[in-house]
Amino acid sequence: MRVISETVIPGLPVRRGKVRDIYDLGDKLLLVSTDRISAFDWVLPTPIPDKGRVLTQIAAFWFDLLGEPNHVITTDVNQMDLPDEVDRSLLAGRTTLCRKAQVVPVECVVRGYLAGSGWAEYQRSGTVCGIPLPAGLQESAQLPEPIFTPATKAATGHDENISFERMVEIAGRSVAEELRRRSLEIFRRGAEYALQRGIIIADTKFEFGWAGDELILIDEVLTPDSSRFWPADQYQPGRSQPSFDKQYVRDWLSSTSWDKNSPPPPLPDDVVQKTREKYLEAYQRITGRQLT
Ligand SMILES: Nc1ncnc2c1ncn2[C@@H]1O[C@H](COP(=O)(O)OP(=O)(O)OP(=O)(O)O)[C@@H](O)[C@H]1O
Ligand SMILES: [Mg+2]
Repeated sequence: MRVISETVIPGLPVRRGKVRDIYDLGDKLLLVSTDRISAFDWVLPTPIPDKGRVLTQIAAFWFDLLGEPNHVITTDVNQMDLPDEVDRSLLAGRTTLCRKAQVVPVECVVRGYLAGSGWAEYQRSGTVCGIPLPAGLQESAQLPEPIFTPATKAATGHDENISFERMVEIAGRSVAEELRRRSLEIFRRGAEYALQRGIIIADTKFEFGWAGDELILIDEVLTPDSSRFWPADQYQPGRSQPSFDKQYVRDWLSSTSWDKNSPPPPLPDDVVQKTREKYLEAYQRITGRQLT
């Protein structure tokens, strides 16, 4: 098994996100999911074997299933038009060749449950991103219906929630309305599908971009990195929920003396193995297939 924490393609400059390595091919991008894992906003020094392949292939599964206009050209490395010297075995299974779009600079967040910054705001003001909600909801409660709560990437790198009217100022009314409608619809379909397979998708983030005059779904969709996945059989409102994929990592980190303000410690092997199994399980549940 090959564990990849960083990829290098000779001659191609790379931009590294927390988890993905991105290569610019002009009118196309190569999005490579590595096995890096982040927690508490830090990239951990220990990769999780197979995580990158799971993420890329869950996203590919949804892109295919949803039938929404999207950026994918292929996830088959043998069909990618790449420089000869590229080591395809390094990229296999973890790479998406996609159309480069002009990104709409708004994160299209949909929330079906009350968690994270949504729960924090609700406790202060009874609203989430300014949207009033019924009184008396508990932490992790399912919302009466999913809500659209856009955000922008602030200069700090953290997301900042914005009102729908602010999104209208940024993207224009018709685009904002279209993206809200499409985001809610994709979330509804994806969450319903995942729930039948034992996973609650509590909330998620979509990105869209222009390809010519068409607004397409880009980035990754409905993965454990872009969404909160909760195990449905352990769901219990009134408390925070265990994360389907990262719980072992978070629990272990919280049990150490790490202060969350300095580089995190390496993960012990049993935490790595249990976490790897959760990613594989997420893949199997959602796609109905074993990762090969
Ligand atoms: N088809 C596309 N066309 C243009 N840009 C895209 C496309 N798909 C994804 N992107 C962009 O590629 C980048 C992917 O970066 P990635 O998510 O790995 O890291 P990041 O967003 O910089 O940081 P983080 O790791 O915190 O998410 C994002 O900026 C996303 O908007
Ligand atoms: Mg990102």
